[in-house]
Parts: sequence; structure tokens; C-alpha cells
Amino acid sequence: MLEQFKADVDEGLSSQPKFLSSKYFYDKLGDDLFVQIMNLPEYYLTRAEMDIFQNQTDALIEAIHVKTDTNFELIELGAGDGTKTKKLLSRLLEKGYAFEYFPIDISQNALNQLEDSLKREMPQLNVNPQQGDYFNVLSSLKPNQKPKVILFLGSNIGNMIDERASAFIYQLGENVHTGDKLVLGVDLIKSEEIVLPAYNDASGVTRAFNLNILKRINDQLGANFILEQFDHAPEYSEETGIAKSYIMSLADQVVHIESLDTSYDFKAGEKIQTEISRKYNDDILANILKLTDFKIIEKLSDRNGYFADYIIEKQFSE
Ligand code: AVJ
Repeated sequence: MLEQFKADVDEGLSSQPKFLSSKYFYDKLGDDLFVQIMNLPEYYLTRAEMDIFQNQTDALIEAIHVKTDTNFELIELGAGDGTKTKKLLSRLLEKGYAFEYFPIDISQNALNQLEDSLKREMPQLNVNPQQGDYFNVLSSLKPNQKPKVILFLGSNIGNMIDERASAFIYQLGENVHTGDKLVLGVDLIKSEEIVLPAYNDASGVTRAFNLNILKRINDQLGANFILEQFDHAPEYSEETGIAKSYIMSLADQVVHIESLDTSYDFKAGEKIQTEISRKYNDDILANILKLTDFKIIEKLSDRNGYFADYIIEKQFSE
């Protein structure tokens, strides 16, 4: 884990242009800051998807084509606190569906909290938390032949470039059967006036979230980044539909990382790319799915048309 972090930091800061992976945002402080982001007035994504789960629950259930008399598995990749999913779970129980809920997360702590709250709020729910790698869990469930519905919400896929997203969905397809469904939550392409503030909020939470990656390198790898010497610099292009977050150096400076025994130069104005947050439309998603075994069968949008949950189905693959 630490060795991988060291190697990735060295690779990213030695590259031209420099980059760091957004997966390193999420330490204890990063998790807390992301929860704060989800509650920001500018961060519309969570509320928009909540609108779908809360107000179109029956349409969502219809779209996943599960039957009341067949036991199925509902598997969530990166379950987090499950706020949106709980709307779906309680409605499924109410309607008498027989299913088992498998929340998967890297964080055991998040899973424990989710399990506790579900035990309290829905004691009749069959919940089976799984800590670890998505594909390990999925391949362990594949042999049982039960119909499966995978949830991958929150536009988490947007952190992947399209080629990676395609490879990721292809690999999901390898771990399920024909007719199984994926509910893919994605942020939709819209104007800069709406998207950019979501990544550059007035209260500076996203700034702290972005710069936390430097703090983490200081703390875990013994670096001497002076955080005040760097700025949060997000960008968004409505043409490509891609938001990018950067950390910009405010001066010519040299940073030393002790555990790598290496110094890195930064020019004033030089940027480190830390994240992409891709936005989608039907064509972009269809293009991503082209090399996978999945087809779009349904699309549910929130009332503002900001966000969509696409229901995509695994086709025959002989
Ligand atoms: C968790 C990947 C969906 O890209 O919108 C929020 C992460 N980064 N603010 C996103 C994030 C900055 C978020 N995702």
C-alpha cells in the first residue's frame, strides 16, 4: 500500500505534465471532506441522484426487471453511507421482493456503519457486507446463478477516462450472466455555470479536499510541501464534458520527499492534474459500451435533467 503510494507519487511528479491519482484523496480527512462536499449547495450531483431514488423508485424497480418470486442479488460497488440506496431497499421490501443486499466498499468502517444503520432501520433486510476489491467479490458471487443487479452510483465512473471506463464495464460483464443489470449513475453534460462551482465551492471545501493529497504526501512520505504555496485550480469544458482538477504551484519551488530521497521542481503556474470528473450523454455512454457486452435499456433523469441513472443489461456473449 505505502510502496504503491510512493511509486505512484514518484511517477506522477516526475512526469511532464505532472499528475497524481484521485484515489489518494480518500484518507480519513479526505473521506470527511467528501461527505462535506456532498452537502455543499454547489454540489448538485448527490441531490440530483437522490431525486431519482426518492421520487422515481417504482420506475427504477420496473427498469431493473426483477421478479417478486425470484431471489436476486443487489450488489453495490462503493456503497458509502447508502443514503440513496436505502430508498430503493425499503421500497423493494415494501413490495415483497426477495433479495440479498451486498454492499461492497474498501472502507470496513463505512461498511460497519452502514450495516448498523440498516439493522436498525430495516431489520427484515438480508444484508451481507463485503470489504475489498469489487471484482474479487463479484467473481465469488458469479457461480450461484442468481439474477444480479449491480449499482455503481454517484458518477464514480467519471473519475475514469473513457478507455478505462470501458475496460471496467467489460470486466463487470465477465463477472455476471446474460440478462443481469448494471445501474450506472452518471453526471450529464451541462453548462459551465452549473458544473464548475460544484468543483470550486465558495466555502473552500473542495480546495481543501484537493490540497489534502499534498498533506497526505507530507504526512505519509515525509515531504515538505507548503500548502499555502499551491492553489486549487479546476477547469471544465462544455465541449468535451470533462471537468479536471489541478493543483497549481504559486511560485518556483523545490519540494523534497524524504521517503523517496528525491526533490521535485515546480515552476510558478505549473499544474499537477489530480482528477477528472467526466460528464456524459447518450452518445458518450453508447461509445463506452461499444466494446462491452452491455446495452442501454433505460434512462432515468432527475427533474432538472442534471444527472441520469442508466440501466444497462448484459447481452449474450458467445
Ligand atoms: C466521487 C468521483 C463522483 O468527481 O464529482 C467531488 C469526487 N471531486 N468533488 C466527482 C469529487 C471533487 C466526485 N466523485
